[in-house]
Amino acid sequence: MAAVRDGMAVLSRPREVAVRALKGAARDWAGVPRGPLGWVATRWVMPRLHSAIYPVMGQAAQLREEDELLEVACGSGVFLDQQAGQVRRVVGLDLSDLQVGLARERLAARIAAGTAEIVKGDAGALPWPDATFTVVTCMGSFEAFPEPERVLTELFRVLRPGGRAVLNIGERVAPGTATHRVWGEIWVWSEEDVRDMVERAGFTDLAITYASSAGDSRLLRVVDRFSGAIGQDLRIVHGTRPAELPTASRSGSATR
Ligand SMILES: C[S@@+](CC[C@H](N)C(=O)[O-])C[C@H]1O[C@@H](n2cnc3c(N)ncnc32)[C@H](O)[C@@H]1O
Repeated sequence: MAAVRDGMAVLSRPREVAVRALKGAARDWAGVPRGPLGWVATRWVMPRLHSAIYPVMGQAAQLREEDELLEVACGSGVFLDQQAGQVRRVVGLDLSDLQVGLARERLAARIAAGTAEIVKGDAGALPWPDATFTVVTCMGSFEAFPEPERVLTELFRVLRPGGRAVLNIGERVAPGTATHRVWGEIWVWSEEDVRDMVERAGFTDLAITYASSAGDSRLLRVVDRFSGAIGQDLRIVHGTRPAELPTASRSGSATR
């Protein structure tokens, strides 16, 4: 009886069912990639679609030899692999088994040498002690985090005093656009709300810059033009964990 009832419900709500199926496919594809869709996305599509983001973020991060770099939601590790030669150590964290596996393959030699580490985990609960890294980065991912404030708090916590955050948080939006969510899941933030959110996590010296997510690629420019409903330029937020914390936060962890 229950099966018949469920079947009738499905037939009477085709739109709802289609939307749910589409959302599920989108999550497998780009949310936390898994299954066959995730396999295709992680191996073939994402590294190409994001190919212009990596150099932009690399330039923005201004990495130095002594840096210990953490990338949260590191995907298949392309950015870390590109930057690894410039810093002391690179560390990536991602929630997708597929991505973690690919990133470990990509960075295998450095992992064996002890200068890289890839961890499976949640950006909202980082498995490192306070003040571990000198630079934290995140790209192409923030807008899909259900609790972005929690991720910011964690990034601030694991950053050493004086450390830098370079975070791609969404894209440029038209003036007057209010913060909202697309499909009830993807965040679209106004610049003002991003600024507030990042400052509330404790970051100072905030600067926001924009860069094309298509770079020099004509193909990516076309993709950008047709997916342009929420903007075309990457929003990059630069912040610092102050070297001196306010008196109230000085005992133990700064944020917990
Ligand atoms: C669109 S991909 C971007 C990957 C990578 N940053 C890049 O640019 O190639 C988004 C990534 O965020 C990861 N992700 C989503 N939610 C996460 C979470 N809560 N914690 C860690 N990783 C997460 C996904 O598994 C996926 O690899």
